[in-house]
Amino acid sequence: MSTRIQAENLRQRVMSAEQAAALIQHEMTVGMSGFTGAGYPKAIPLALAKRMEAARAEGKPFQIRVLTGASTAPELDGVLARVNGIGMRMPYQSDPVLRDRINAGELDYLDMHLSHVAQNTWFGFYGQLDVAVIEVAGILPDGRLVPSSSVGNNKTWISEAKRVILEVNRQQSEKLLGMHDIYYGTALPPHRKPIPLVRPDDRIGETTFYCDPDKIVAIVETDAPDRNSAFTPPDATSQRIAGHVLDFLNNEVTQGRLPKNLLPLQSGVGNIANAVMAGLGNSPFRDLTAYTEVIQDGMMDLLKSGVLRMASATSFSLSPEGMQDFLDNIDFYRERIILRPQEISNHPELIRRLGCLTMNGMIEADLYGNVNSTHLMASRIQNGIGGSGDFARNAYISFFLTPSTAKNGKISCIVPMVSHVDHTEHDVTVLVTEQGLADLRGLSPKQRARQVIDHCAHPDYRDMLNDYFDRACRDSYGKHTPHLLPEALSWHQRYVETGSMRTA
Ligand code: COA
Repeated sequence: MSTRIQAENLRQRVMSAEQAAALIQHEMTVGMSGFTGAGYPKAIPLALAKRMEAARAEGKPFQIRVLTGASTAPELDGVLARVNGIGMRMPYQSDPVLRDRINAGELDYLDMHLSHVAQNTWFGFYGQLDVAVIEVAGILPDGRLVPSSSVGNNKTWISEAKRVILEVNRQQSEKLLGMHDIYYGTALPPHRKPIPLVRPDDRIGETTFYCDPDKIVAIVETDAPDRNSAFTPPDATSQRIAGHVLDFLNNEVTQGRLPKNLLPLQSGVGNIANAVMAGLGNSPFRDLTAYTEVIQDGMMDLLKSGVLRMASATSFSLSPEGMQDFLDNIDFYRERIILRPQEISNHPELIRRLGCLTMNGMIEADLYGNVNSTHLMASRIQNGIGGSGDFARNAYISFFLTPSTAKNGKISCIVPMVSHVDHTEHDVTVLVTEQGLADLRGLSPKQRARQVIDHCAHPDYRDMLNDYFDRACRDSYGKHTPHLLPEALSWHQRYVETGSMRTA
């Protein structure tokens, strides 16, 4: 048995993944660990999927409701979706198999702000959590649990579930102990108090999770790595986007609107956000901090070069090389990284107080600055809003980034009217494409439209957008936010014309 399980009284609860999975029944609500491919259970979902498949072969239904921190990996969302074992999923996903099932209308998906999940569970909005399945890096002699490579909603799942199943993963470094800051001070309204965090590097909680030992019904030992998918090296488009952001930040410092070491950075998921971080590495900025959701490779590089002094997040999301570098230099990184529960990493109160500079990807933006981060053709979900809304609405400056076109230039990512709104014109400060940057601060809707067309639209679409806007200014019913309906939405037909729209 692994030396990672140091609590004598819990050792007799060690069992196989199959035995542990047998404790999960049809229609249960299960809170699982996992955030952007880090810290998810590696063995139990696989064993559960096999049981689900066997049940289906016998004509018996077997579906569960799955709650996590955010996206997981093929070994969790993928295997369960493949056997149609998920009846309800929240709050975020990015798995291709699961995405197809959601878009085929085969399960209920609740796409929500990540900061809302824990508190809505405490409020009782989602009913009783039956089981928590949580990956940990170890169990200390007194029963405290050492968190793994992500925190997400684990604290909440452990405290709210009737029963807890642990996966103790030997591949997670023992040196993770001490890197986490688990805040137990939250209360329910009307008894809430301010959260005592005023700098990104403040520690306000514990390094471990508490769990009533009587609730722990199974412990499974695993030895498997996180998903750790590779990033594509920054291409010309993402480098140009990064360049525009850096020029803007430089100018803000010159104008005295930002301090020399900026304000805490939040960087979203994906290659473009990663490229902006890489761009910062070649900038004159120093002594930066990050108050963000995930730590990708780009941020690790900034920590290594000293550009970034420290980073606070809820999870890693590293490439295999990034993970190896982390493990090789863990003594260095553990001094500079703090992982927190996602209700703290994404907390509106804290994001507003710290004055975060938030940078997130998007699918499309419209002339007035409304942003769609989640849907294709208004109806097909890509991933979900994730933490982008938590950060954007409360940011000091909220940036949204995208190439100006998609599908090899056949679609403009700047459209007259977005087909779905995740971030309203009120929450979006700066739009950036490789063409340029539109600074929307202090502008009326019509002024914003000119900025967005001139600075962000691809030249192939600029005349069409100007033509639309001119006619809208002339013929629109109201002249405050000029639009021509239904023409505004007809732009999205392009997606059908590219052959991308799946009809299955
Ligand atoms: N119209 C139609 N399709 C579009 C499009 C547009 N305007 N823009 C992108 N797409 C398509 C792409 O072609 C791609 O299609 P494919 O899967 O068939 O190849 C797909 O949408 C994803 O685009 P891609 O450029 O690969 O996305 P990305 O990795 O840069 O991510 C988001 C962009 C918006 C999907 C991603 O940032 C996201 O999920 N954001 C929401 C969550 C978030 O912001 N989290 C961070 C908070 S901390």
